[in-house]
Amino acid sequence: METHKHLIITLDGPAGAGKSTVAKHLAKLLGISYLDTGAMYRALTLKALRLGIKFDDEKILTDLAKNTVIDFTEMPDGSLHVRLDGEDVALDIRSLEVTNNTFYAARTAGVRELMVGWQKEIGLKHSIVTDGRDQGTVVFPKADFKFYMDANFEERVQRRLKELQEAGKAVDAGQLKKDMQDRDQKDFTRAVGPLKKAGDAIVIDSTHLSIQQTVEEIMKHIQI
Ligand code: C5P
Repeated sequence: METHKHLIITLDGPAGAGKSTVAKHLAKLLGISYLDTGAMYRALTLKALRLGIKFDDEKILTDLAKNTVIDFTEMPDGSLHVRLDGEDVALDIRSLEVTNNTFYAARTAGVRELMVGWQKEIGLKHSIVTDGRDQGTVVFPKADFKFYMDANFEERVQRRLKELQEAGKAVDAGQLKKDMQDRDQKDFTRAVGPLKKAGDAIVIDSTHLSIQQTVEEIMKHIQI
């Protein structure tokens, strides 16, 4: 179902709800781009880690973001890889260290302001399925279609566990659970851009749905 209409579809929700996999499928089906906004916060975090920058200093983090170029490059298979100052960091941003430190960038108002601006610019130029925490609330309040994807906590932990194991990473299930609880709590409660369902978003509970079923469920709501 390819479309020539300019289209913005937002997919917000907590970690492990399946947003990125579903967003990629949707984008492919519709013949539009997939924007992974979490990758942008992760890329800045990676840079701060490499430079040994103090995460709790919001001014330093904001200045770092101002001097950083985060963009995406399209791979031959059609997937988008995030680039940090021109370097492909798609793999490096998935480390546990980056995952567990991204909340610093995410809670910093100056950083969010820049990220939101970059995301809006991308949305002006491209039709996108965008996934994150604030896409339907802050970045694209006038999106054509908004979804809030959720799944129960145990299911989200199991999915993340499987994903990490399949990627060949050693994981401690108990620690992962604790880290995800902590990340949820931080995402829901930060003062700026918290994870929140937009009033007009459609809730998709994927607890008992496969990826394919989730995509089908979402597609039922997309009339173009
Ligand atoms: O989506 P992903 O799990 O890769 O995002 C990593 C972290 O980046 C999230 O836990 C959240 O703190 C932050 N994030 C955000 N706003 C977004 C996307 C991600 O604050 N739009």
